[in-house]
Amino acid sequence: MSLAEITNGGITSSFLRSSELANDMPLDSDVFSVPPGYNAPQQVHITQGDMEGKGVIVSWTTPHEPGSNTVLYWADGKSKRKSRRAEGTVLRYKYINYTSGYIHHCIIAGLEFDTKYYYEVGIGRIPTRRFWFITPPKPGPDVPYTFGLIGDLGQTPDSNTTVDHYMSNPRNPKAMLFVGDLSYADAYPLGDNTRWDTWGRFTERLVAYQPAIWSAGNHDIDFLPQYGETVPFQPYLHRYPVPYQAAGSTSPLWYSVKRASAYIIVLSSYSAYGN
Ligand SMILES: [Fe+2]
Repeated sequence: MSLAEITNGGITSSFLRSSELANDMPLDSDVFSVPPGYNAPQQVHITQGDMEGKGVIVSWTTPHEPGSNTVLYWADGKSKRKSRRAEGTVLRYKYINYTSGYIHHCIIAGLEFDTKYYYEVGIGRIPTRRFWFITPPKPGPDVPYTFGLIGDLGQTPDSNTTVDHYMSNPRNPKAMLFVGDLSYADAYPLGDNTRWDTWGRFTERLVAYQPAIWSAGNHDIDFLPQYGETVPFQPYLHRYPVPYQAAGSTSPLWYSVKRASAYIIVLSSYSAYGN
């Protein structure tokens, strides 16, 4: 018996990978378009904000000046007039010759399980932008739940197809496990961080509506000591916060969360990079 016979798992998909490596989508692609209105919030994304799923971290960027730090949120079926508000923080970071926009992070805590919430960012300014998410059921051993999985996404036309496939999948994944390598901005000279911004706008249509459980990959290290970038993961860490303290972790590069019937442990094998 040959090894090929022992290991043949059959054909599980009709997908055939192209032998060509795709180029990134050009900067004027529709998926990279900036939302209308001066300083409108962009690159909106959410992630789980606590250990059990009753908290959500909302993140967004305003390009020209600090925006409002407020997130308004209310449960589906309730009036927006009875919305609650949470206050976040704003930061910028520099990377070689790049300075980021104003990156806002806001934790919403104390949500109900298994509930749809609407949320708005850009509060007090025009234009505001509205999105929604659904909290998971209370964690337990037999709670049904569907995760989707994406890694190595990048921003090529194939990346766009991957997001389309994910969002139209009939299994309807409710939260995304992202297994590292987000934007691939590190392929550009000086790790051009404007490609982190395009990636944030491109992925908004997915990750503004369901949380991603982020982990970092080798393309997220962004360690360029010859250009003064001596601390790895700076673009990733400034843009994609995770609830590592809720797990008692000392680093956002390793942490755990519970969600429905899953206990998810995130480990980045590159966490010691440069040390
Ligand atoms: Fe990878």
